[in-house]
Amino acid sequence: MRTIFTLVLFIVSTVSSVSSLSQGSIVVDANGTQLTYTDSGAPDSHPYTTIFAVNGMGFNGGIFSKIQTLAPSRQLRIVAVNRRGYAGSTPLSTYEQNVILNGTADQQAEFSRNIGVELLMFMDEFIQDHNISVFNGDKNSAGGVAVVAWSIGNMAGLSAIAHIEDVPEATRSRLASRIRSLIMQESSSNALGLPAPAQNWVPLDISDPTIPAAHQYTAFAQWVTAYFDHGNLSSRDPDVISWVVPSSFTPFTIFNMTVSQYNTIVDTSINPALDADQLALAPVLEANYRASNFNSTLRGLLPHMENWFITGTRSASFGPYCIWVVEDDNAAAGGGFVNFMTIDGVNHFMHWDDPELTLSVYQSMILS
Ligand SMILES: *[C@@H]1O[C@H](CO)[C@@H](O)[C@H](O)[C@H]1NC(C)=O
Ligand SMILES: *[C@@H]1O[C@H](CO)[C@@H](O)[C@H](O)[C@H]1NC(C)=O
Ligand SMILES: *[C@@H]1O[C@H](CO)[C@@H](O)[C@H](O)[C@H]1NC(C)=O
Ligand SMILES: *[C@@H]1O[C@H](CO)[C@@H](O)[C@H](O)[C@H]1NC(C)=O
Ligand SMILES: *[C@@H]1O[C@H](CO)[C@@H](O)[C@H](O)[C@H]1NC(C)=O
Ligand SMILES: *[C@@H]1O[C@H](CO)[C@@H](O)[C@H](O)[C@H]1NC(C)=O
Repeated sequence: MRTIFTLVLFIVSTVSSVSSLSQGSIVVDANGTQLTYTDSGAPDSHPYTTIFAVNGMGFNGGIFSKIQTLAPSRQLRIVAVNRRGYAGSTPLSTYEQNVILNGTADQQAEFSRNIGVELLMFMDEFIQDHNISVFNGDKNSAGGVAVVAWSIGNMAGLSAIAHIEDVPEATRSRLASRIRSLIMQESSSNALGLPAPAQNWVPLDISDPTIPAAHQYTAFAQWVTAYFDHGNLSSRDPDVISWVVPSSFTPFTIFNMTVSQYNTIVDTSINPALDADQLALAPVLEANYRASNFNSTLRGLLPHMENWFITGTRSASFGPYCIWVVEDDNAAAGGGFVNFMTIDGVNHFMHWDDPELTLSVYQSMILS
């Protein structure tokens, strides 16, 4: 009897902790490349808005699981897609790895284009398979699609938007009638192909060669989850940013994960290393960033899309710094291309430590 009772408790707690997330994968090209995903499912009320969330460096789509669990209560469906190599998505081939490090400019542009097109094909297939609704043009009502590109996931998210002309007309049309928001959450400047400032530091051997290579991605996975006590960010002075040392007064997000969550979500193997390598494709990344944000012709192909750049005030250095860079580029382009939001008190992982607030933030951008 006690065994049965314990078993029931175990099942109940297991089910409630993974909620109703379903898993799947979608083949995105003729070569059989697959992207895996988790899906919070259709909310009871229609229409609802679908968010495609793209993971960052060293953390797979499981990092979005808390907001996925809450999504149905907000008339949201959240699909966390795993970039290549993460959580069962097709790893980058030896050919692709060679291109990243040693390819010609044309090969590197083709590689980045493929990453973007794969994401577009993924979203289109999901839209068709799940009857995802169009955006009806009323900014106050739910429906349609938002893309959340988080951290280094902006490399893929912005390549997708920049290559909207490179998918079949039917795909482009389905995406154009649905995409209403592009939310760039805490990109770094180098993920946009732009230089990092002289003060930039990360616990990786590119910044500090004394960090043993074997441990650098574990170190990064801790540091990037910290809370930082920056100075007055309104000053827009890079010197007020705490570039290296986290706050001594708030536990890192990583301490808010169980061992099992850590083992499921955190990836310290080759995938973060390949992400870091891709930062060398700066000219291609910058072209994608400029096209997806500041090219009016291209923006006209996704007429409903509102672009946002958001960061927390206690995030690792690169988010608070990058928002200034994008603000300046937006102003230089004449303004009005990108909207901005700075969220008080949160760090790079607000979707883990404050999932309710995160959904309110997303909703406020989607419904605006
Ligand atoms: C499919 O694989 C071939 C051979 O590796 C490659 O040349 C081609 O670019 C790939 N196509 C796509 C869409 O990735
Ligand atoms: C890139 O080229 C360098 C030098 O030519 C070589 O040592 C390295 O193995 C190459 N890397 C890849 C991934 O092909
Ligand atoms: C698909 O969604 C539309 C509304 O967006 C609805 O009218 C239609 O019945 C749905 N079709 C299926 C097969 O669920
Ligand atoms: C923060 O910086 C802004 C802009 O330079 C300035 O107006 C404001 O007074 C500063 N706030 C504090 C508390 O120093
Ligand atoms: C903007 O995008 C259009 C369509 O892709 C392209 O033809 C044009 O060259 C781009 N403009 C700039 C300034 O890059
Ligand atoms: C840990 O995450 C939960 C949400 O799942 C949140 O309520 C809690 O405040 C977080 N703890 C810390 C220390 O941030």
